[in-house]
Amino acid sequence: MSILIAPSILSADFAALGEGVAATERGGADLIHVDVMDGHFVPNITIGVPVVRSLKRIARVPLDVHLMIEEPDRYIDAFADAGASMISVHVEVGRHLHRTISHIKGRNLEAGVVLNPATPVSTLEEIAPYVDFVLVMSVNPGFGGQTFIPSSERKVAAVRALLDRHESEARIEIDGGIGEDNAARVVAAGVEIIVAGSAVFGAPDIERATRDLKAAANAGAPTGLRRGR
Ligand code: DX5
Ligand code: ZN
Repeated sequence: MSILIAPSILSADFAALGEGVAATERGGADLIHVDVMDGHFVPNITIGVPVVRSLKRIARVPLDVHLMIEEPDRYIDAFADAGASMISVHVEVGRHLHRTISHIKGRNLEAGVVLNPATPVSTLEEIAPYVDFVLVMSVNPGFGGQTFIPSSERKVAAVRALLDRHESEARIEIDGGIGEDNAARVVAAGVEIIVAGSAVFGAPDIERATRDLKAAANAGAPTGLRRGR
């Protein structure tokens, strides 16, 4: 089983975004994680559809778009048209979550749901059979460079258990405070996709930081293939 690395451009130098993304790809990035914030669901404002469209022109790996916005349904088509391959929405804003997930899948994208640190794993119970991945926030969303919340490790294991109970092959992604120091531990708990912003783009050598993080993450991976991966 190979762990996927998804560098988050939130911590990138936006004046040199193309170069930064290319460096992560040389280092083995499997996805590019794009954090979309609206200043309502989270206190920060970041980037939107035009940046995803530009990234699509230069990125060689799929774009993983994490929507930290109210009313995500209004923007799914725009992000799909711009070139997203994966879109995740927070369960905390999803009043009609099944409809939202169906919409994303109807566009032939991978659909994910995101849990904030204080959101119980049980909120996945009804939606689990429909999702392609579950993103566990290991910091409160809104900013890069925050400290990993230790209980997230236990939460990942609980999400895996719930998904397994539903016979779901959905992957678990983790986002927030991940670096070489804790990547192996979260992978051992059940993570298959690692998001990292400051640990990659805050490093002096982005390519090398990506490569080192991937090696550290894979050190925690169970030997042998789970579900054929
Ligand atoms: C936070 C974002 C993250 C952020 C992670 O709300 O969802 O993707 O970029 O940054 P680090 O890896 O620095 O914690
Ligand atoms: Zn994110």
